Amino acid sequence: MAAILGLITKKIDATPQGIRGDRETNVFIGRDEIMVGRNKVVYNIVETLINSSNQEANFISVMAIVGMAGLGKTAVAKAVYNEAAISKHFDARIWVCVSSDFSIKLILSQILEMLNPTKVVGRLSLDELLINLQEELKGKRYFLVLDDVWNEYPEKWANLMNCLSKINSAQGSKILVTTRSARVASITETLPSCNLRTLAEDDCWLILKDRAFPHASADISPDLERIGREIAKKCAGVPLVAKVRK
Ligand SMILES: Nc1ncnc2c1ncn2[C@@H]1O[C@H](COP(=O)(O)OP(=O)(O)O)[C@@H](O)[C@H]1O
Ligand SMILES: [Mg+2]
Repeated sequence: MAAILGLITKKIDATPQGIRGDRETNVFIGRDEIMVGRNKVVYNIVETLINSSNQEANFISVMAIVGMAGLGKTAVAKAVYNEAAISKHFDARIWVCVSSDFSIKLILSQILEMLNPTKVVGRLSLDELLINLQEELKGKRYFLVLDDVWNEYPEKWANLMNCLSKINSAQGSKILVTTRSARVASITETLPSCNLRTLAEDDCWLILKDRAFPHASADISPDLERIGREIAKKCAGVPLVAKVRK
């Protein structure tokens, strides 16, 4: 088991960057996905997003979830996105997987595609994109998740925010960024960041148990549980490590 965990750790470190295909995330929560130990974090983020007021017109508040790979940033963002209170508070919800390619046109195209899947966005110029986005978002308060942001250039971020502020959306729109980089957080955020902590050992054990015995009833032999909890310790609170096991 330890060997397997060792292998897995190596795999995570070697996560390929810039390969869009297998990094792209979506908002759907799989039927086999459980979420443990993050209720309070999700609750706090939802509260902050809903209750913080924007200081000025055209100002979009940004909150960042920061933490190392596999810690569960995307999972927390998904949980926030899918909270009933969020759909109730915002007129539109948008999920964009950014990853290594921080192209403003690509981000705006993805936003437009999500708001109106019938639009053919491929050949639109930046101006056309903005006009279309104006139509879709006019007077709407939106919630935008930018998942997995790597861009550390402040100018590029400022450019994106500048474009978004030209769309006459309603006051109170919010952005949630997930990132591994504290620098990205400091460039983007206007609200206090959420520094994601590692999970408790008990929570890792719950993930392992769910993966090993998805259909088992609550009683697992004490010997198995002891071994399982030993392995849970080695997961060091990282849910991805607890999850990727054989
Ligand atoms: N709190 C959690 N409970 C159970 N599984 C989790 C939890 N957080 C993350 N996971 C799982 O661990 C894996 C990595 O999580 P992810 O959100 O993609 O990490 P990150 O975005 O920080 O790299 C995913 O398969 C996810 O479903
Ligand atoms: Mg992620």
